[in-house]
Amino acid sequence: MEMNIALLPGDGIGPEVIEQAVKVVKAVGKKFGHTITFKEAVVGAAAIDATGNPYPDETHEVCLQADAVLFGAIGDPKYDNDPKAKVRPEQGLLAMRKKLGLFSNVRPTFTFPSLIHKSPLKKERIEGTDFVFLRELTGGIYFGEPRGRNEQGTKAFDTNVYTKEEITRLARMGFEFAQKRRKLLTCVDKANVLATSRLWRETVQELEPEYPDVKVEYEFVDAVAMRLIQWPKAYDVLITENLFGDILTDEASVISGSMGLMPSASLGSDVKLFEPIHGSYPQAAGKDIANPLATVLSAAMMFEYAFDLKDEAKAISDVVNLSLAEGVVTEDIAEESKPSKTSEVGDWLAEQILK
Ligand code: IPM
Ligand code: MN
Repeated sequence: MEMNIALLPGDGIGPEVIEQAVKVVKAVGKKFGHTITFKEAVVGAAAIDATGNPYPDETHEVCLQADAVLFGAIGDPKYDNDPKAKVRPEQGLLAMRKKLGLFSNVRPTFTFPSLIHKSPLKKERIEGTDFVFLRELTGGIYFGEPRGRNEQGTKAFDTNVYTKEEITRLARMGFEFAQKRRKLLTCVDKANVLATSRLWRETVQELEPEYPDVKVEYEFVDAVAMRLIQWPKAYDVLITENLFGDILTDEASVISGSMGLMPSASLGSDVKLFEPIHGSYPQAAGKDIANPLATVLSAAMMFEYAFDLKDEAKAISDVVNLSLAEGVVTEDIAEESKPSKTSEVGDWLAEQILK
């Protein structure tokens, strides 16, 4: 198969982790006989520095022409400490999601056998966890208008907005995911307080008869925040709005042992985007110590979701499991074993794939 992949390394550790994913993707291409071409473009702080725009038109063009986008991370502390900064790197990520129509962010949570003991949660509670969040990605309070400050700057406001159409398309994807899995769908909302949440609940309820094989549960977001780590095995597919999904998926990463391990896929249009759920981790940038596995696993999701190539995806997750079992890992999860450098993990994974 021929594949054109856009590479958007972004900021902080983004370039280093993307570099490792590229090694792995190239190895998979070689092993399975695919012709893979890469085209790089700037986004985030790197793009602001280069062009003044965190998601330049040229970058959007590169994404549109690609079959899939592999994205690293975004964010730079020099903007975090300046609340009045007019352009922020994160706007690049939001613009990219919106302009590419990526309304659903698929964030799976699973455990790795050799890492179970790394989790702060009890083994018997998390062993066998296997759920997936579908986080709405292009609506809600992240995008709602009006937003901003009053003239005196003494009052700030954001608006949470959802249309029935936005909820329906995400919910349908949730039902379809559930049908291919354990057939349980949980709608996470705050319908006891928020009008938007009541529309979510109503919309999902209306869709239920179309998917009679799927059991649907409705749970308030605060309760899910608790039950998710108390008994994660209770969940299969969860659908939720943008902000709730952002928060809960960071929480969920604790179950697998490290945020440096969790991949994601953003779906909704022809061009699909794959990104680790972690941020730009600026303290580690350039030190060759960041964990590349979340990005490598995002590349596995790319083979599965963008190209429907499950064997290729499995080849990657298998070598990732092997690296964890054999302790070829970065310092965040290395224990008895001597930590490997980011680049060494990438080299090792690529080598194992070609073995
Ligand atoms: C994520 C990140 C982003 C988000 C930030 C960097 C804008 O936290 O992908 O989860 O909030 O969506
Ligand atoms: Mn987040």
